Amino acid sequence: MDNEELIGMAKKAGQSAYAPYSNFKVGAALLTKSGNIYKGCNVENASYGLTICAERVAISNALSNGEKEFVKIAIVGGFAEEYMEKMKKEVKQNIDKENIYKTEKDKKESFLIPCGACLQVMSEFNPDLELILLNTTGEIKTINLKELFPKPFQL
Ligand code: THU
Repeated sequence: MDNEELIGMAKKAGQSAYAPYSNFKVGAALLTKSGNIYKGCNVENASYGLTICAERVAISNALSNGEKEFVKIAIVGGFAEEYMEKMKKEVKQNIDKENIYKTEKDKKESFLIPCGACLQVMSEFNPDLELILLNTTGEIKTINLKELFPKPFQL
């Protein structure tokens, strides 16, 4: 399973995101040692704090299927197309909400980095997990979880 394929699966998972409050849809695809892939999407709630991120949904999905040896995870996110279109109409401008304040250099660096809660949860199972990320210009890069989160909480 190459990184591009895994990114494709994360994009697909993101289409199922339930994100009526933020309109920010995230998808994750998690590859296990056995070669299986478990997908996840963000699941929001009217009580905002109950929201679950795509990464943790993918991990729960894998665990529920008896797998906990994780190799890599692809994560993709962005504002929903319909939402962007609505915004553009409202302001009568061709805005790009994700990039509005960004220079070309910023755009290249704007990879979706998992939130702190997800870093801690991923670290529980594999502190060395490879994260496969996509920026707003469509480039893929990998970062090792350890690099982002070297000192997880441990009991
Ligand atoms: N979100 C994720 O699913 N994963 C991340 O890594 C960051 C944020 C979700 C949570 C919420 O539904 C929306 O993105 C906006 O924060």
